[in-house]
Amino acid sequence: MAKVLLVVGARPNFMKMAPLYFAMGKVPSLQPLIVHTGQHYDYVMSQAFFEDLELPQPHHFLGTGSGSHAEQTARIMIEFEKVLLAEKPDLIVVFGDVNSTVACSLTAKKLLVPVAHVEAGLRSFDETMPEEINRRVTDTISDLLFTPSPDGDENLLREGVAPRKIHRVGNIMIDSLIGILDRINQDHQEQIVQRFGLTKRNYVLVTLHRPANVDEREGLAQILTYLNGLAARVPVVFPVHPRTRKNIEAFGIEASFRDAFHIVEPVRYREFLTLQNNARFIVTDSGGIQEEATYLRLPCLTLRPNTERPITITEGTNELADMSNIEAQSARILAGQWKQGQVPALWDGHTAERIAQVIHDHTAFRKS
Ligand code: UD1
Repeated sequence: MAKVLLVVGARPNFMKMAPLYFAMGKVPSLQPLIVHTGQHYDYVMSQAFFEDLELPQPHHFLGTGSGSHAEQTARIMIEFEKVLLAEKPDLIVVFGDVNSTVACSLTAKKLLVPVAHVEAGLRSFDETMPEEINRRVTDTISDLLFTPSPDGDENLLREGVAPRKIHRVGNIMIDSLIGILDRINQDHQEQIVQRFGLTKRNYVLVTLHRPANVDEREGLAQILTYLNGLAARVPVVFPVHPRTRKNIEAFGIEASFRDAFHIVEPVRYREFLTLQNNARFIVTDSGGIQEEATYLRLPCLTLRPNTERPITITEGTNELADMSNIEAQSARILAGQWKQGQVPALWDGHTAERIAQVIHDHTAFRKS
């Protein structure tokens, strides 16, 4: 039996881990255990996701919390090292690009524990994003690199990663999305949308939390002014991330927003997917939401100068936007002039099974 620690820490990790936990549970030779670093800790940012994904409580919860990058990364490393020494796993699996991803892969490698990275190979080529550093460091030291799309393979090969380590398996987030939406029927979706005072296909869904958008007063105020203006044409719902909420308060941005601009608390996973599934379009700076919108074939405006997920633009429904063109782009969408997009290859709901198979083969080989 190979013991495999699945390491998560922040909101976007949970839906990437869940399908793999269940797929590995069906492989008799694998024993998956969940480690939660506690990088995200609010109920709605963490526990609610475990509930919606029907996951058990984590086997280890490290309670490391927030802090500067160095503080947070260091605390996670110190606590995770204790788990590694106690559990002596055969492999750890890390997900995405958050601080927990890099902290735990570094810690494991120093103890000679192999690392698998799910969502490997993505690059924004923007070193001002902390996630770009996390991705590059994690990929450099990982033993198994699971990529969602061909650009991931190309980036890794260009950086000198051995081809035998790279496995293109598709997009694991889409496994979770398909599973949850299958479980929420249309009536229930209608109820959820109405709870926010909205009607299906007649609102814009917004998420913003990147430091580049929300950590400067002027930039954040400008975005909120645009959204308030948009709400004159179509209702807008904005579940606000804790980072963004804290900054709105700290900067004292007290505009009087239109009633049609619904600023709400962060929502749990199944509600968020329902809001996405029924929106007219999306404005975001998230990584994963660009992918979910592509799968749902929903127009998406990404308020960033670059994306590590270019396939969402070349094949999907996503476009980059900035404050100089976002009004024109929004108008085009509202006028029905947007690309249809297509769902990329292997974004089919079976990515977790493919990863579990590779992990089975890899751990069986190492143990033999
Ligand atoms: C992190 C990830 C980012 C991911 C995002 C999704 C890194 C470097 N960034 O950013 O890639 O897209 O999660 O949410 O790992 N806070 C709370 N409650 C919580 C969590 C955070 O109040 O449960 C507040 C804290 O004040 C904290 C701030 O939000 O200082 C930011 O949290 P942090 O984990 O540092 O980064 P995120 O902005 O959430």
